[in-house]
Parts: sequence; structure tokens; C-alpha cells
Amino acid sequence: MADGAAAAVEAGGGQRTGNVFRLPAEAGMLRFLTCGSVDDGKSTLIGRLLFETRALFEDQLAALEHDSRKYGTVGEHIDFALLMDGLEAEREQGITIDVSYRFFATDRRRFIVADTPGHQQYTRNMATGASTADLAVLLVDARKGVVNQTRRHSFIVSLLGIRHVVLVVNKMDLIEFDAERFREIRETYENFATGLGFESLLAIPTSARYGDNVTSASERTPWYEGPTLLAYLETVRIEADPAGQPFRMPVQWVNRPHLDFRGYAGTVASGRVRPDDAIRVLPAGKAAVVSRIVTLDGELAEARAGDAVTLVLAEEMDVSRGDVLAAAGDAAPVADQFAAHLVWMSETPLIAGRSYLIKAGTKTVGGSVTAIKYRINVDTHEHLAAKELHLNDVGVVNLSLASPIAFEPYAKSRDLGSFIVIDRLTNETAGAGTIDFALRRGTNLTWQHLDIDRSARAALNGQKPAILWFTGLSGAGKSTIANLVERKLFAMGRHTYVLDGDNVRHGLNRDLGFTEADRVENIRRVAEVAKLFADAGLIVIASFISPYRADRAMARNGLEEGVFLEVFVDTPIEECQRRDPKGLYAKVAAGKISNFTGVDAPYEPPENPEIRLSTIANSAEALADEVLAELRRRGIVG
Ligand code: ADX
Repeated sequence: MADGAAAAVEAGGGQRTGNVFRLPAEAGMLRFLTCGSVDDGKSTLIGRLLFETRALFEDQLAALEHDSRKYGTVGEHIDFALLMDGLEAEREQGITIDVSYRFFATDRRRFIVADTPGHQQYTRNMATGASTADLAVLLVDARKGVVNQTRRHSFIVSLLGIRHVVLVVNKMDLIEFDAERFREIRETYENFATGLGFESLLAIPTSARYGDNVTSASERTPWYEGPTLLAYLETVRIEADPAGQPFRMPVQWVNRPHLDFRGYAGTVASGRVRPDDAIRVLPAGKAAVVSRIVTLDGELAEARAGDAVTLVLAEEMDVSRGDVLAAAGDAAPVADQFAAHLVWMSETPLIAGRSYLIKAGTKTVGGSVTAIKYRINVDTHEHLAAKELHLNDVGVVNLSLASPIAFEPYAKSRDLGSFIVIDRLTNETAGAGTIDFALRRGTNLTWQHLDIDRSARAALNGQKPAILWFTGLSGAGKSTIANLVERKLFAMGRHTYVLDGDNVRHGLNRDLGFTEADRVENIRRVAEVAKLFADAGLIVIASFISPYRADRAMARNGLEEGVFLEVFVDTPIEECQRRDPKGLYAKVAAGKISNFTGVDAPYEPPENPEIRLSTIANSAEALADEVLAELRRRGIVG
């Protein structure tokens, strides 16, 4: 608590490289987040903090006075809420829809405040703001007390590792500065917050509109003996001292201006490093020794958490972007499978099994969620079964990466314990997650080396293995052409196997239907089988609607160039409906089937298929010959 003696402290952290939602931090700086329900007075509160610490520029003030007259809701007074931008949208809708960062300073400390929206739907913005913060200011309306929104925000704040909370009980003027009511709200919140792992929690009665207890103590709350909000923010001690932890530095880029210099640039995430220190390069684990610490302002005898430096190693070695340099005696663990919390931020749901890019620190690798353990109801903390995570959902998942990374549990390091999920096709940040712990299952498996490999098996078969992946609408003609292609290859003495949607769904994939999640799993399993068969030396012909680009990309993933050929059987839906070989379109029209591809479920046509077959203009026979001609051209068959 603020006794005035706890002078400005280091607010931990330094610049958090590689994590998209980090702002640079400096010693003596406090990053905090504000959250509350719409209308709790959050914007007014921040506006007043900025105003009273003189953080406003003259022109902003002039604009504010102008706007207050035009849009203001407080008569003569300056309407501080108008300061907080987002802006147009907030003014028009009365809600803030994005995160905005503000800077202000007093003699004792500098501050970055992340203002996040109070509107229910915007958990993702809230999470974005929270991930940068050391402390959260939670607003409640004194008339309403602790509401669902307060609980939701507290949960996310706790999830994102914020350990310090200020409960601002605002609008005290509207309840006549009632001490009893304030105590009730404080106790309700304290009871709720047990179990969220906060290290400090202070409740302050305020009126942001009139300034009570914001920057100066209010005469109207003689019963309150604690500090004002500003005094508290100036003095609150954020314990984490990243410089005191083991050395970690994610490599942001390899600095190689000319042949005689090679250094590894990045920001020290934790700990300290000096020349002659023994380090390890992770995930490989190779040992190295630091020879020099180079910066724009010359060489350093020591770099510590928050410093942006280039490290030169004593010996040349293979270090690339995304590697983590760590203290040799206390290196970070390395793994490729994790249990993690995940906040989903995309309109397109997360589906287990789908392949994404995972960016952890400065490293980006392919990966997927192998299982959604449960979704968390952030209002009640209940665990709910889920096959997908939707926009703003929070879930606990198992995450599997294509290659191992150096990490720390999020509770130990925000830098090495957080990751974002990127949609491979749109490049959108689709989710943000925190690592709980590594899963053992991956770490104790090694790839068993076999003496007879794909090329040996293929050579015995006298052929080059390949996967011909037919995609297209139901009734497009995939199976018909696939069948003809196999007959032709068979006649030429080739070893083949056809994997067909309807057939596989009778056995291996009998448990799957046609929801998006089930189709993703259908294609994931089939793609694995196709890879095994190709490894066995076969020419695999896979015939699946496979409506999602991401899943076809996953099927191709990891194969050598030229092994996977995407064959788009291009038949317009009207033509498929007309042909209707299995009578399914008639059933769809009669309302007997739903989720039907091309009708009420999507089909994403390939953008650059290796082979495109137009079934309107050509016979199946001619198209099969076209496929054969392409296989010859590529040297897959002679
Ligand atoms: S995929 O979408 O998961 O790739 P897959 O190729 O395995 O589908 O199976 C498609 C076949 O299932 C279709 O050719 C059709 O015979 C049948 N089917 C039954 N219901 C549906 C549906 N709702 N959407 C698409 N195909 C369906």
C-alpha cells in the first residue's frame, strides 16, 4: 500500500520483443490497463488523470473544449470522456471498440495506460490490452456494484498474469459517498477475487467526474484513509524483477552487415549477460560463449532485461531468427507440445486439427490445436465441452508444434510463455495464448530410423510415389476420374491406391459427420494415411470434397516438392445439381440434408492447383488422360 515511502519502482519487463501486442517498457514505468462496463466512467477517469497530470497538449485541450460544447454530457464542465479516443465509434455508439494506449508522467513515475472497451463482445481487445500490463484498474459503478462484466474482466486479467488490481468504485457522488455501500462492494469483490491469484488488491471510492480521490484526496470521503488513485499508481510496487531471473534473449534477427561481422540482435527478455558468459542456443542446445555486446552507442560490459543489443559469439555457429540464447547453467526448457490457455480472436472459429502458424517470441512455426479440453465460461468459471472456440471464447487446449521451441510457463515468463495463433491464409492474428506446461507425450518420442526408406521402396516398385489430391464439389466427378486414372496406372503396371471420401467414411472415419470440425478431422486423418501410403512407395489418389484451403494446405505440408499434386475437379454447382449422381442434391432441396457443401456449407476453390479439370467441356476419359499426361510431364510415370 502507498505509504509514500515506496518510491518509484521498476515496473518490470523491458521491451518485450517478438510479441506483437507488447509496447516497449522502461525502468520506472508502470503499464496498467483499465476496464469496466460501458458507462462506468472509465474514459472520464483516464481523461482526468491525463488532465491533472498535465499530459494534455494545448491543442488537445482546445479541441476538447470545442467537443465538450458540441457533444458533452456535463454542461459547463469539460467532458473528459471525450478525450479518450477510439473515437468516432465511441462517440457514435457509446462504446469503445479498440485498445488505445496513452502516456502520462508525474515526478515519480511514467505511465502507459491501455484503455480497453467495456462492451461485452470485446474480450479479445481486453486480452490484447491486458497482456501488456502490470496492473489492472477495474471500474465499477457504485450504484451497481460488482457485475458480471467485472467478473469476466477480472478473470481475463488473472489469466493474462496480472497480479495487481485496483478496484475503483466510481460515481460515489451518486450514492452520497455512502461508506457502508463502498464497504459492501469491496467485500463482495474481495470474496470473488480469492482464487484469482492477485498479489495486491486495493479498493478506492471515487467520483471521476468531480475528481474525488483521483489525484487529490476527497473531503467527501473522510471515512476513507487510503491513497488517491494517482498516489497509489505512483507508488505501488510491482515485484517482478526480470533482470534477477536467468538470462534469456530471443534472437530477432541475424546482424550480418559484412563478412567479418556476425551478431545476434534482440532484446534481453530476462536476466543479464556479460562477455565471456557461457550460453546455450535453443532449441538445439548448442553451447557457446559471448564475446562482445554491441549497441549503437558502443560496446557494453553488461546487458540486462529490457536492453536491445547485438551479441557476438566467440565461435561462428548456426543461430537463426527465433532461436533463444539462454544462460548455459539455467537454460529454458524445450518442447513441442503444450497445455495452454487460448483466447480466440477471429470471426472464423478455431477447429482442432486445423493447421495454423504459431508465433512464440520471435519464432514462427506451424502447429495445430490437437484437442480442445474445454471452454471456460468467463462469467462463472465453469468448464464447458467444446469442439470449436468462437470469437472471444477462452479455452484450455493441447497445442502441437511442427518443431520444438524454447519456452517458459507463462506464470514464469510472459515473453517466453505467450504465443499468438496466425491464420495461414489471411495472416490474421486469430488467437492469443499462454503456455501452462509442456506435455510429456511429445518429448519421449523419437522418430525411429528405418533402413528401408521411401525411395528404396519406390525403387523396388519401379516408380516415383505421389499423392494426387482430387478436390471439388459432391457430384463434380472426382471419384469417376480418380477411378479412370487408377485403371490407367494399373494397366501400366503402377502400384496405386485410391482413398475415397464415401469409402473411408465407412470405416476409419465412420465416427465423423459433416460439420466443419468433422471435415477438418476427416481430411487430417486421410492426409496422414495418404502420406503413409506414399511413404510405402504408392501413387495415392485421394478423392475428397476437402472444402477448406487450410486443410488441403495441411495435407500438402511437409511433403517434398512435386510429391503432392492438387487436382481441382471444376464443375459448377448447377451442373452438379443437374447430374446429382447419388440423389443427394434432391434430398438437400427437400430439406433432408443440411451442411451440404456448395449449398449451406462452404467450398473454397483452389487458387493454384497443379491440375484443373473442367468437366463441362471434356469427357471423364479425356480428363483422366490429361492427368496422365501431367504425371508424365513431371516424370512421375515414364
Ligand atoms: S469432406 O467435406 O469431408 O471432404 P468427403 O469427401 O469425405 O467430404 O465426403 C463427401 C461425400 O459424403 C459426398 O460425396 C456425399 O456422397 C456424402 N455427403 C453426405 N452428406 C454430405 C454433406 N452434408 N456435404 C457433403 N457431402 C455429403
